[in-house]
Amino acid sequence: MIYITRRLEFCASHRLFNPSFSDEKNAATFGLCNNPNGHGHNYVLEVTVKGEVDPETGMVLDLKALKKLINEKIIDRVDHKNLNVDVDFLQGVIPTAENIAIKFWERIKPHIHNGTLCEIKLYESERNFVIYRGESIESIH
Ligand code: NI
Repeated sequence: MIYITRRLEFCASHRLFNPSFSDEKNAATFGLCNNPNGHGHNYVLEVTVKGEVDPETGMVLDLKALKKLINEKIIDRVDHKNLNVDVDFLQGVIPTAENIAIKFWERIKPHIHNGTLCEIKLYESERNFVIYRGESIESIH
């Protein structure tokens, strides 16, 4: 078993707020990310697939095909977009890194047939990132 990762980047804006919260509670909960007119991030996305090495190719999968899939399903849809309003698959969720990572997983998981999607790592900044492995709390206890 080997793990193979493709890294991609995109730029997008968002505003974190919960419409059911008061203005004061939104400001207290989300801080600077609650700025009324939004703000931007240079996101870095790392998608990791695990699988067996094919003895005929020496590869788990075709990285060009993985890149094309991620670009079509994710990057082209979010790059230079406002994540609150421009992205259909993010409607109805607060666009935190956590929620974005889960939605990204759901978008590409059904389309990866060579190897198994293992991990989505999403950096919102150099110091802040989330990891999603498709697990729920129930599945790990
Ligand atoms: Ni933010």
